[in-house]
Amino acid sequence: LTRGRELRIAMVGFGNVGRRFAELLPGPFARPLKAAGARPIVTGIATARHGRAIDPHGLDLRHCLRLVRAGRRLDAVHEWPDTPSTIDFVQTVPADVLVEVSPLDPIAGEPATRHVRIALRRRLHVVTANKGPVAFALGRLRGLARRQGRLFLHEGAVMDGTPVFNLVERCLPGVRVRGFRGALNSTTSHILSRMEQGVPAAQALREAQALGIAEADPAHDLEGRDAAVKGCALANALMGASVRPPSVRRRGITRITAQEVQAAARAGRRLRLIVRARRDGGAVRLRVAPEKVPLGDPLAVSGADAVLVLETDLMGEIGVIEGGGNVDQTAYALLADLVAVAGAWSREGGRTRLCG
Ligand SMILES: NC(=O)c1ccc[n+]([C@@H]2O[C@H](COP(=O)([O-])OP(=O)(O)OC[C@H]3O[C@@H](n4cnc5c(N)ncnc54)[C@H](OP(=O)(O)O)[C@@H]3O)[C@@H](O)[C@H]2O)c1
Repeated sequence: LTRGRELRIAMVGFGNVGRRFAELLPGPFARPLKAAGARPIVTGIATARHGRAIDPHGLDLRHCLRLVRAGRRLDAVHEWPDTPSTIDFVQTVPADVLVEVSPLDPIAGEPATRHVRIALRRRLHVVTANKGPVAFALGRLRGLARRQGRLFLHEGAVMDGTPVFNLVERCLPGVRVRGFRGALNSTTSHILSRMEQGVPAAQALREAQALGIAEADPAHDLEGRDAAVKGCALANALMGASVRPPSVRRRGITRITAQEVQAAARAGRRLRLIVRARRDGGAVRLRVAPEKVPLGDPLAVSGADAVLVLETDLMGEIGVIEGGGNVDQTAYALLADLVAVAGAWSREGGRTRLCG
């Protein structure tokens, strides 16, 4: 392993995903980055209620984790001119790459899309697990990244670290994705699976929240908005579509009763919240709805597992399953994308020339 040059990472968001990433970065995540020629340091962290911190020489991550876990603010370790807002932070933080892990806004994809745009304009690479920018602004952000000669990578936006975007992009050259179907929302799969076992829905939701897999506002999971945003992110990235979440036909699981779930189970079926996409003339149509899936069908996943079946022209159907999705796998998605960034960044000579 080479020691590598410093790859300066700035983070927006230090919640379940951001903190797990920060825990793993100095340990198992440092090795693949070093192999790609980079020694990662985190030069800035921005949050909503825990303040912001920038240190151009690298923050002490353990100390930052301790502060936030104790409910204290990060400002105590800030070593840079004042940044009164997250926007100021993104505009000024000394960094080579922005890791965007703020909460999903399923209505407009903001302010994450703005954070991504500002970072790309400054010629920072961007890595995100936030599906908002991918569902609402992928075409524009990809165009901006291309013009700036930077990477905009978002593997963690759907199915955490299980390769979906990178699978098609890197391993399936020339393949056209004609459609897809999947159980993509782990929270609803967990809840429906626990309801099969007789656990009340409210308790199952609390379990999903304790696992860190539920959205900050769990109504986005239950009402199918998260699944709709994921469907749009996939359709836009893999099928060249330009669909937006409000145009998705959507029904969530809020009205599903324990009796319904158990009757389906007795009939050899599992209720799951399914996303389907298909081409319809020139457009791509998306639908999110609970379906009674026969046991044995790839969509009949158990627990919080997620599954995606891609329908392609040259490769038939390809299924990808993520077993027991958790926040470690989302943190891994950030790592996988950062390794790609580190490769591009090393080839360029290891320093981002900042603009703006
Ligand atoms: N959790 C998962 O398993 C998972 C899986 C795949 C994708 N994702 C995506 O990853 C992202 C992060 O998820 P999470 O579970 O880590 O969320 P989370 O626990 O709610 O954490 C969100 C973080 O963002 C900060 N934040 C909120 N608004 C901000 C703003 N305007 N500027 C700066 N920071 C802001 C919050 O600050 P405070 O700490 O001060 O509240 C918090 O640190 C989401 O987009 C989610 O959809 C999550």
